[in-house]
Amino acid sequence: MTVTPDIDLVDPGSYEHGGIPHEQLAWLREHDPVHRHKGDPERGGPPFWAVTRHADVVHVSRHPEVFSSYERLALFEEPDEEHLALQRLMMLNQDPPDHSRKRSIVNRGFTPRAIGALEEHIRDICRRLVAETVERGDEAEFVRDLAAPLPLYVICELLGAPPEDREKIFHWSNTLIGADDADFQRGPEEGERAATELYAYAAELAAERRQNPRDDIVTRLLQPDADGEVLDGDEFELFVMLLSVAGNETTRNAASGGMLALLEHPEQWARLRDDPSLVRTAADEIVRWVTPVNLFKRTAVRDVELGGKQIAAGDKVVVFYASANRDEAVFDDPFRFDVGRDPNPHLGFGGGGPHFCLGAHLARLELSVLFETLLDAMPNIELSGNVRRLRSSFINGIKEMPVRVRPVSR
Ligand code: HEM
Repeated sequence: MTVTPDIDLVDPGSYEHGGIPHEQLAWLREHDPVHRHKGDPERGGPPFWAVTRHADVVHVSRHPEVFSSYERLALFEEPDEEHLALQRLMMLNQDPPDHSRKRSIVNRGFTPRAIGALEEHIRDICRRLVAETVERGDEAEFVRDLAAPLPLYVICELLGAPPEDREKIFHWSNTLIGADDADFQRGPEEGERAATELYAYAAELAAERRQNPRDDIVTRLLQPDADGEVLDGDEFELFVMLLSVAGNETTRNAASGGMLALLEHPEQWARLRDDPSLVRTAADEIVRWVTPVNLFKRTAVRDVELGGKQIAAGDKVVVFYASANRDEAVFDDPFRFDVGRDPNPHLGFGGGGPHFCLGAHLARLELSVLFETLLDAMPNIELSGNVRRLRSSFINGIKEMPVRVRPVSR
């Protein structure tokens, strides 16, 4: 393939067939690691700097005083003030010190101890999903039957939402991120409706828990800590919205992309089968290999130099985690999928700094328990049809993956 600096890293079409355009990103890492990407006249998107090396992605992530998150979700569009106003209330789009206060409140729901306490629930959920899949027969659709319900059920567990509410939370979170649509596009009205309904649901949940506190994460977030800090006003509702978007689509694509990687590397699947204790390192290798979140945007708040380029105040800077995760300067043989890779300083959960993924422990736990359960119950799983990818340059996702499960007879 001829690679030129003008490749379109934004066009979802570049990601539709083979997933991440790794060859092009490798070219950029080597020749133009902080690359000026032209704007997209069709979408009206502004030009941006594409940051592709591991060290630079880490640098941008850890310097929020220079690279602000305040417009990060207006990925490639000219930001629309009305939507930005709402987004800026969300932690993901804030900078310290506003972000720091919220983050320290929500951290207490996501400590390794709080997440560890969910392990048995997660194991039950995985066992149940696998058993239901097996009951339906030999043919399954991995995304629909396993990868999608797992993170959703876990978030419902986290919120203490009753099982009968799962379907609607699933629908809202899919609609919000546009994942229920084949080409990852949806009308703004549907997204707004889903946001309004999920918001109202979260408000009810908060009211109920304030009246009837339980020993769960929601209650913990609504009660003042030792310094009297608490999520108040809209903050809880917005956090629930963030969780159901950030925790669902990402883990779902890590699970299905991880399964695909293991099917494409049968020797690694066999290795896991022989030594299931490797599921812990496998979970991180899957996140590195798949990189479910390809990129995020920052905005420079002052003139600054990065990778030898002069970045001006107001310029958009896009960090490509998928590229950083194949950086030859950091990873030994980065294009080798290795379930035992250790250490594995991948940036799949972000480049460090204040926004590092809040759900990283939880996602690792979900992935390792899922693969443990699959290795036990259906070690002979194989692909049985074409894999259909999500058309998105933001999320590296799989829409559909038919598999034959051939369970072990007990
Ligand atoms: C932030 C990836 C699972 C909640 C992020 C970021 C990335 C990411 C790249 C941004 C980091 C930055 O800007 O520096 C992933 C991947 C996942 C995953 C690849 C699965 C494999 C989850 C789960 C949850 C979650 C399960 C919660 C249930 C969040 C939240 C933020 C975040 C709340 C924003 C944190 C902040 O702004 O301080 N995640 N995530 N994520 N993630 Fe995850």
